[in-house]
Amino acid sequence: MRVIIVKNYDSMSKLAAKFVKEELLKKPDLVLGLATGSTPLGLYKELIRMHKEEGLDFSKVTTFNLDEYIGLPKDHPESYHTFMWENLFKHININPSNIYIPDGTVEDIKAHCIWYEEKIAEKGGIDLQILGIGRDGHIGFNEPGSSLASRTRIKTLARETREDNARFFGGDINKVPKYAITMGIGTIIESRKLILLASGVNKRDAIKKTVEGPITAMVPASMIQIHPRAIVIIDQEAASLLEREYETWEG
Ligand code: F6R
Repeated sequence: MRVIIVKNYDSMSKLAAKFVKEELLKKPDLVLGLATGSTPLGLYKELIRMHKEEGLDFSKVTTFNLDEYIGLPKDHPESYHTFMWENLFKHININPSNIYIPDGTVEDIKAHCIWYEEKIAEKGGIDLQILGIGRDGHIGFNEPGSSLASRTRIKTLARETREDNARFFGGDINKVPKYAITMGIGTIIESRKLILLASGVNKRDAIKKTVEGPITAMVPASMIQIHPRAIVIIDQEAASLLEREYETWEG
């Protein structure tokens, strides 16, 4: 695992965008795994800038999002469909038919999850997966206790996660859906490369456990330790409990 400590959120976003750009230049038909939430917003802004100012081309890119709430229509302001369109897709030249996000409104969720896994396989697997991390160590919506071999499926959200995400639902935890569809840890780990991003003091416990703790289902992100090409980009606050020496980036 390559851990890179940067000074702040802005540097984290810029470095992550630099890695995405490098991969995209090497493979224009990159299969990119995407996350939502506050963490990747700066990365998406930087990718939009690279598209507009440097001509970074997304026309052949395919994307798979990690997760989606169950029960929110696609056009709900807090659905991850809306999030991705507002914060990335509508600003770049991606082909809409190459965008995959789990659909939390389907009747047969089980069949949809199997279809999602099949689509990932059909596209040749994910080349580069972007990850954020929850305070409880979740990746995607794989909450503590998730099987480390899990595939795309329905998960019950932890109370901590619903509390954290209440900020997007007018501060009302009761408005945060209780269930989500998420790629499994097994699905995520099969990506050829992973970039996990974290910023701020709220993430320092989760980062300490993920990077320097044992691999355990109680900290799902710790599973990235077994990945041969995982990069963790964290700012100084998120890194503040780490005890070992790590690479730094001053950009
Ligand atoms: C969202 C996702 C989640 C978030 C995590 C952190 O697609 O996969 O695991 O990355 O909940 O969220 P933020 O970035 O809002 O702190």
